Amino acid sequence: MKRKGIILAGGAGTRLYPLTEVACKQLLPVYDKPMIYYPLSTLMLGGIQDVLIISTPKDTPMFEKLLGDGSRLGMNIEYAVQPEPKGIAQAFLIGETFLDGDGCTLILGDNIFYGKLDFFRRALEFEDGACIFGYPVRDPERFGVVEFEEETGRVLSLEEKPAKPKSHFAVPGLYVYDDKIIEYTKAVKPSPRGELEITDVNLEYFKHDELRCEPLGRGIAWLDSGTPASLLEASSYIATIEHQQSYKVACIEEIAFNRGFIDQAGFEKVIADTISPDYRDYLTMVLKEHTG
Ligand code: G1P
Repeated sequence: MKRKGIILAGGAGTRLYPLTEVACKQLLPVYDKPMIYYPLSTLMLGGIQDVLIISTPKDTPMFEKLLGDGSRLGMNIEYAVQPEPKGIAQAFLIGETFLDGDGCTLILGDNIFYGKLDFFRRALEFEDGACIFGYPVRDPERFGVVEFEEETGRVLSLEEKPAKPKSHFAVPGLYVYDDKIIEYTKAVKPSPRGELEITDVNLEYFKHDELRCEPLGRGIAWLDSGTPASLLEASSYIATIEHQQSYKVACIEEIAFNRGFIDQAGFEKVIADTISPDYRDYLTMVLKEHTG
């Protein structure tokens, strides 16, 4: 099944005030890159080349300025506006024309994954149903919480921010759906706070016995970047990794080349157009590794 990607980068970022008074949260730096590079690279590593970025009326033009139409990365990047924050699941309705009957992967613009993404690729292999992920945390009540059989992936229960969590597995902001996503989203009613809840869409799949959960093992870091402290921690984490090894995390140009979205000529053009000498040196090193 063809799956397109949606990155939801809306919201007011109130927990990061005053950082977000003028700047958009998903454009804030996580070490050496804008935050949105990380979820975008996750989608790219899953082989997804068609991506819709949804943000507020004020911030959408800035994402467009940053990433353009994606063609230099061999991608198709489109943009849409969420006029008011009416829930994560509203992203599917906003993206209905973009999806055009295809399946979909949604990632929240502040969710950072680091590690081997086999869990994601496995989820993308399934033709039918939806797949969410389970990440063990100490404070599950802050998240969607899933109870599931680790061996089979069968979901037993799913609740949004429960006072008494039934498991310690939080549901990260990465969701994989088949082509029934629009139909199931339309079956969901807004919650008491007037939002279309992502957990309710997942429960719709659950009701139809079409929801699976993949555990995220110890080899994966899922970093939150929604508070000043977690933003700093995420930056330090990425900085530590990049200093210890010679590779960058979430270098979208490198991923585009490695995944074959662009060929060598395309990559050479990207390098020539890169204004930062350091970043250009890095991309040149990647190219040299390829050409031997
Ligand atoms: C949202 C979802 C929640 C999920 C979380 C992951 O919560 O509603 O189920 O666990 O994202 O980041 P929010 O961060 O909008 O409170």
